[in-house]
Amino acid sequence: MKEYKRYLVTSALPYANGPVHIGHLAGVYIPSDIYVRYLRKRGRDVIWVCGSDEHGVPITIKARREGVSPQAIVDKYHKIIKDSFAGLGISFDIYSRTTSPVHERTASDFFRKLYDKGEFTEETTMQYYDEEAGIFLADRYITGTCPKCGNDGAYGDQCEKCGSTLNATDLINPRSTVSGTQPVLRETKHWYLPLDRHEAFLRGWILDEHKEWKPNVYGQCKSWLDGGLQPRAVSRDLDWGIPVPVEGAEGKVLYVWFDAPIGYISATKELTPDWEKYWKSEDTRLIHFIGKDNIVFHCIVFPAMLKAHGEYILPDNVPANEFLNLEGEKISTSRNWAIWLNEYLEDMPGKQDVLRYVLTANAPETKDNDFTWKEYQARNNNELVAVLGNFVNRALVLTGKYFDGIVPATQELTDYDRDTLAELPRLRASLENNIEQFHFREALKDAMGFARLGNKYLADTEPWKVIKSDPDRVATILNIALQITANTAIAIEPFMPFSAEKMWRMLNLEPLGWEMLGRADLLAPAHRIGKPELLFEKIEDEVIDRQLRKLEATKAANAAANATVDPQKEAVSFEDFQKMDIRVARIIAAEKVAKTKKLLKLTIDTGIDTRVIVSGIAEHYTPEELIGRQVLVLVNLAPRELKGIESCGMILMASDPTGKLMLLGPNGEVKNGSTVG
Ligand code: 2FM
Ligand code: ZN
Repeated sequence: MKEYKRYLVTSALPYANGPVHIGHLAGVYIPSDIYVRYLRKRGRDVIWVCGSDEHGVPITIKARREGVSPQAIVDKYHKIIKDSFAGLGISFDIYSRTTSPVHERTASDFFRKLYDKGEFTEETTMQYYDEEAGIFLADRYITGTCPKCGNDGAYGDQCEKCGSTLNATDLINPRSTVSGTQPVLRETKHWYLPLDRHEAFLRGWILDEHKEWKPNVYGQCKSWLDGGLQPRAVSRDLDWGIPVPVEGAEGKVLYVWFDAPIGYISATKELTPDWEKYWKSEDTRLIHFIGKDNIVFHCIVFPAMLKAHGEYILPDNVPANEFLNLEGEKISTSRNWAIWLNEYLEDMPGKQDVLRYVLTANAPETKDNDFTWKEYQARNNNELVAVLGNFVNRALVLTGKYFDGIVPATQELTDYDRDTLAELPRLRASLENNIEQFHFREALKDAMGFARLGNKYLADTEPWKVIKSDPDRVATILNIALQITANTAIAIEPFMPFSAEKMWRMLNLEPLGWEMLGRADLLAPAHRIGKPELLFEKIEDEVIDRQLRKLEATKAANAAANATVDPQKEAVSFEDFQKMDIRVARIIAAEKVAKTKKLLKLTIDTGIDTRVIVSGIAEHYTPEELIGRQVLVLVNLAPRELKGIESCGMILMASDPTGKLMLLGPNGEVKNGSTVG
C-alpha cells in the first residue's frame, strides 16, 4: 500500500433538523472517532473535520412543521448536536456548519469555477410543482414509489431503502409532502453536472483501482456505473440555501448535496491556514466515513465534482456502514423511534463508554444490526464489568493489599508467564490490522483481548492463594498483571477514552503512546500506583425497564397519532336525544369488583339519589383517583346486572382510538343532579 504523509478524515455532516441518534453513532461517528484516535495515538499527522448540514429540504420541512424560520431550526439543532458529540467524546478537530460565511464563499466559488470551465449543462425541464403551497417540489418535498425497488416512501432525490439516487420525475404516484396533494408539472431551468462525462474515469478509478473498498460500497458503485450515469441537477428552486452565483439564477440555490460535501473543504479551511496541504497533495490520504445512504454522493457525485474542479485529491477509501435498527424496528426521526444522544447523556450520566462499547461491539459493519436495551445491559454486566472492570480492579487492589501500592519486581518467570506475555504483541498486531481495515468490531475484540488475557492469567495463577506460601511468586504475578493492565489502557483508549483516562489515573501514569503497546516493561518496579476506582458499574433491570417504558410510550403516542377516529353514526332526532337524562353526579365510593380486571363498583350521588354503577374503568383509574370526582352520568339507562351487582346508569367517558378511557365532568364545581344537554 502507498505510504501517505498525512490523513484527512471526514464524517458525514448530519442534517441540523434533529439531534443525532444511535444509528448515526454506530454507522459513522463512533467508527471514525476510533480510527482518528488510533491514528493520533500512533503519532500520525491527521485532521478530522465535520459539521452540521444546514441547507436543503430536511431543514425547511422541519421549519414549516414547527412554524419557525430555517435559521432558528439550524441554530437550535447545531448546538444540540455539537454539545452531545462533545459529551460522548467524539473528538473532531473542528465541528463547523454549512451556514458559516467561509462555507458559503467556498461552495459558491466551487460552483463558479465549474461553471466557468463549462463543466455544467443548463436545461429547462418540466418539474413537479405544488400549486397549493406555491413551490417546486424537489428532494424530500416529494415522495412516491421507488421505480427500482417499489418502496412506497422514496423521496424525490433518493430511495433510502435501496440506496438509488432518483429524480422526482422518476417517482411513481408522486405526492407533495408539504400539502399532500398531487403535484403538477411546470417548466424551470437548472444547472446539471453531466456525470456521464465522468463515467469512464469513475469506472477505472473505482472498479479497477479501488477493489479494496468494502463490498457494500464497491457493489453499490458498480451497480450504479453498470446502470449508466445520468446528468444530475445541482440547483434547486428554494428560498433556503446558497444562491446560485451566476446571472439569471434568481430564486435558485445550490442543491444541498452539491454544497454539503464542499463543507469538508470549508471546515478544513476554518481549522487551519495549511488546509491546502490536506486537500491538494497526493501525499494526503482522504477517507470519508458515511452511512450507506450516502454512498453514491461520496463515491460518484463528489469525486466527479472534485475531478471537474481539478485541484483536489479524491478519497482513498469510503468506509460506509449499514443501518442500525432499534428493538427490531427501523430507526425513524419522524416517528421518534430512536435513542437520541442528548437524552442518553442525560439519562445515563457517566456511561459514555458503555454506549461506545455496545455500539462498536454490535456495529452494522456488514449488514443491518439491531440494538436492544437487554443486550446493552448484558454487554455492560458480562463484558465491561465482569471482564475489563474485574481484571483491572483485581490487579490494582491486590497490588495495594500485598505490596502497599508499589509495583513489585519480577522474580523468575515460568513458561506460562512467558507464553502470556508473548500474547501481547500478537494482540497488538491483530488490533492494528483490524483498525486499519476498518474492522472495528474485531478490533474491539482484540482490545478486550488484553483484559481477557489478564483475567485468565489471574484466575490461573491465583495470587490470593499463593501469597501465604510464596510472596515472591505473587510479586511476579502482580507485576505481569499490572503490565497487562497498562497494555489494556493503551489498547482501549481509541474505543473507550473515558475509561482509559481513569485507568491512567489509577496507574498513576501519563498516557503511554501506541509504540509501547505489546511490551512488558510499561511500569517500572517501585512505581507507586494510584487509588483503585470502579471502572464500570452493574446496570440493574430497573434502569433498563425505564428505557423500555420510554420506547413503549413512543409506540403508544405513534399509535394514537396514526389511529383513525370512528365515522359519524346515523342521525337522531332532537326528541330522541331529549329522552336521555344526563346529570352531573359525584363518585362517593369506589372499589374493585372481585375476580375481574376491568370493573369497578362505584357509589354515586346523582342529586336525585345515591346508587351503584358498575363501570369498566379499572385499568385506567384506581379507586382512590375517583372518589370525590364529579362526572356525567346517564341516569335513566335501564338497570342491568353485572357480576351479580345491579348497575343503575352509565358514567360517560371519552375513548380514544387506542382504547384509552378518560372521565368527563363539568368544567368547575356544579350542584349534583344538574342536567346536561
Ligand atoms: O444524509 C445526511 O444526513 C446528510 N446530511 C449527509 C451529508 S454528508 C456530506 F456530504 F456533507
Ligand atoms: Zn428503492
